[in-house]
Amino acid sequence: MSKATTDIQPLATDFIALVQQHYQTTDFIPLHAPCIGQPEKLKLNACIDSTFVSSVGQFVTDFEQQFIDYTQARHAVAVVNGTMGLFLALKTVGVESNDLVITQSLTFVATPNAIKMLNADPLFLDVDKSSYGLSADCLQTFLNERTHQQNGQCVHTETGRRVSACVPMHTLGFSVEIERIVKLCKQHNLKLVEDAAESLGSFYQGKHTGTFGDIGVFSFNGNKIITTGGGGMLVTNNTEYAERAKHLSTTAKVPHAWLFEHDEIAYNLRMPNLNAALGVAQFEQLEVFLTEKKALATCYTQFVEHNQNAKSAGLLILQNVHHGDANFWLNGFIFDHQTQRDAFLAQTNQAGIQTRPLWTPMHQLAIYQDAIRTELPHTEWLAERIVNIPSGVKCH
Ligand SMILES: Cc1ncc(COP(=O)(O)O)c(C=O)c1O
Repeated sequence: MSKATTDIQPLATDFIALVQQHYQTTDFIPLHAPCIGQPEKLKLNACIDSTFVSSVGQFVTDFEQQFIDYTQARHAVAVVNGTMGLFLALKTVGVESNDLVITQSLTFVATPNAIKMLNADPLFLDVDKSSYGLSADCLQTFLNERTHQQNGQCVHTETGRRVSACVPMHTLGFSVEIERIVKLCKQHNLKLVEDAAESLGSFYQGKHTGTFGDIGVFSFNGNKIITTGGGGMLVTNNTEYAERAKHLSTTAKVPHAWLFEHDEIAYNLRMPNLNAALGVAQFEQLEVFLTEKKALATCYTQFVEHNQNAKSAGLLILQNVHHGDANFWLNGFIFDHQTQRDAFLAQTNQAGIQTRPLWTPMHQLAIYQDAIRTELPHTEWLAERIVNIPSGVKCH
């Protein structure tokens, strides 16, 4: 056994006991599992009874309204999933073939994939060590030093390609320094699409994440804070964007009681009513889920601060340093060294406690190794040290 493995054993043992006690089971404990019960069954049955199970129906309208009420965005458009939501958002704000779109390398692969779907290319900048999301400092330096303005557009000086948009991601529900990013995007004529897939219930200075930029996109995959099975939501304050996104997501059908007229080649991306029924029931429990998640985050913080083995391992917890209220979607530890982190991963997973590293940074994947990027020291540092730990709510 390596030194790091032996060192980490007592910490892993204490952590396993803590998690088993919290979830009151010695069975397998997943990273995150949805709570689906009677409220969901009632809504799903009502949806089935209505026969409106596809992309038109009252539950879609109600789910969108819940989002408008909660996030205070002016418009919400429900779609099939977060990935296609990002694609639709980028298409709606005008990203075109051969454009460059700034984003972070420390993200789930859906973020750059959505950019590629438009035949544009991601351009990776570093993340902030305290927010874990796109660094406003790096964005500022990059825009000032490596782009210039031409006819009201931002151009990447080295390649001459247009930089049309910026997609920061609120990593694990921790908000990026979004107000600075908004300002920089305005100054440099970039559209701003927030990847808020993980940040429903996260606020930055009292304002909901996803509502700062041109469009924000949420995901309701089964592992998210609320789920629709599969699903996503665009939010925007721009009426033109909302109408355009809706039009593009409904095969560009010109509204008419019986005629099938389509005024451009478009997509079928609207959320089915059946999924929205699940979403409406889940949304009604969002505050309960958020409260429980906050309590679990506090429990993990106390473990890091008071457990002797955690202290001697130099363990840190992912937290909001100065970036607003997080939803604590997925809690995580930061280890001093990758070897410690890997030993912890092995020992907890062997004990039936699911833990996971962050995503492999995008620039380290073969599919994105040739993407344009700056130095990414914080991305690499965090990716080597973070481990996500069980964060699901207990189903009552
Ligand atoms: C950061 C991020 N972006 C995009 C997505 C894509 O969402 P979906 O799985 O709903 O397509 C996810 C989650 O899955 C995500 O975590």
